[in-house]
Amino acid sequence: MSATPAYDLLAAGNLRLHHLGHLGAMAHWDQETHMPTRGAAARGAALAELAALLHRMHTEPALRERIERAEQEPLDDLQRANLREIRREWQIANVLPESLVQARSLAASRCEHAWRAQRHANDWEGFAENFADVLRIARQEADLLSQHQSVSKYDALIDRFEPGMTGAELDRLFGDLKQWLPPLILRVREHQARDTVVAPVGPFAASRQAALCERIARLLGFDFEAGRLDVSTHPFTGGAPEDVRLTTRYREDDFQQSLMGTVHETGHGCYEQNRPRELLGQPVSQARSMAIHESQSLAFEMQIGRSFAFAHLLAPLLAEAFGSQPAFEATNVHRLLTRVRAGLIRVDADELTYPAHVILRYEIERALIEGEIEIADIPALWDEKMMALLSLDTRGNFRDGPLQDVHWPSGMFGYFPCYTLGAMYAAQWTAVLLDLRPTLHEPLALVHGDLAQVFDWLRENIWSQGSRWTTAELAIRASGETLNPAHFRAHLERRYLA
Ligand code: CO
Repeated sequence: MSATPAYDLLAAGNLRLHHLGHLGAMAHWDQETHMPTRGAAARGAALAELAALLHRMHTEPALRERIERAEQEPLDDLQRANLREIRREWQIANVLPESLVQARSLAASRCEHAWRAQRHANDWEGFAENFADVLRIARQEADLLSQHQSVSKYDALIDRFEPGMTGAELDRLFGDLKQWLPPLILRVREHQARDTVVAPVGPFAASRQAALCERIARLLGFDFEAGRLDVSTHPFTGGAPEDVRLTTRYREDDFQQSLMGTVHETGHGCYEQNRPRELLGQPVSQARSMAIHESQSLAFEMQIGRSFAFAHLLAPLLAEAFGSQPAFEATNVHRLLTRVRAGLIRVDADELTYPAHVILRYEIERALIEGEIEIADIPALWDEKMMALLSLDTRGNFRDGPLQDVHWPSGMFGYFPCYTLGAMYAAQWTAVLLDLRPTLHEPLALVHGDLAQVFDWLRENIWSQGSRWTTAELAIRASGETLNPAHFRAHLERRYLA
């Protein structure tokens, strides 16, 4: 008989959850990519049923005693880390009643589905009606979780995506960013006004963009034997580690959106494909947190994807895909990829203005969850903050304002800060990498295959580590320190003012 019978039972239960979760992830991917409109209600019901089943398995009464017994068993370090994560998931699941979990899934499916047409129609009032349900349930959830964890309501929601992070810490990090970012944006825009940038001349056929995106994803290490690239309204990475589903979207007048979107999702995809295989199905194999996940997509999209070296790699591939033109000369490609322009859309934002979009959403959603504001207050706050941070007038434009993202319609409050935390971590990883391999600075580094060095470092320090360590421990092991936002600022100043 095994010396760890309780732990073994827990591990077997997690494997079952993993298999059912796999089917849920595929159904969700299909919902976003291929499902016909009239399938929406049935799919919503099916996913809610699955969510309820998974919740029941997560809250089985026998688990409490099993976890307590497993804690007394002779486990090795990895098993102990797994047990810590099992207990964490169990605690979160047990705070929420099944009825709330099911209601949350239904409200999110309904709101998100209607949101697609409402966004297109600039229909804020219609959206606000469905969104009221999503917010009401999120507030209940935040309330229950916060009582249980003795933290603020918003902190309880962030913890689902970014364990250990708090609103107080975000206020400190983002408060500092808010001081230096707007003046830096102005300085960079002045600096860039001297450069001539040749605009690419389209149209860029979607089929050619798709072929280029696939080629780039392959080059960046994505395994197409264990994943796909498809089209969705809102790009995401889904599926399961054994079968990762990336999505992007194509506009024939602009290839950068699909290309850089694909580079971003490929970063997520490589993390997923390289999680520790022998532990798949166990919580310890999961990606550490959403900020660490975004640190991978942003290491790809921002640190690598907008470097001078990447522009050199990309230039001939662009000419091959769309025909030669002056815009595809390497220096010009780099200027295109690093041009700073305040815009309305977060996912299209450049590296420098992106954090402003995140800070704005963070401030609004935190106040929403804490009950300091109501849905009707969002548009005016949005207008005010866009003007303060990026000097943009957004009045009356809900489509390109608070209706632009899928996060709120689907109830993902607490997620947005992870993007900018991820950008900070990505800068921190890159600082280590550049210390170890200074040749990565050279324009032709990536053309000559130094990408493998980057992947090796990420695989060893991030991907293969799963959730073995806390986020702070992971950061210290990889870079010698916990999150240090100074690397992000130094990176931006070096890249954009040099
Ligand atoms: Co991402």
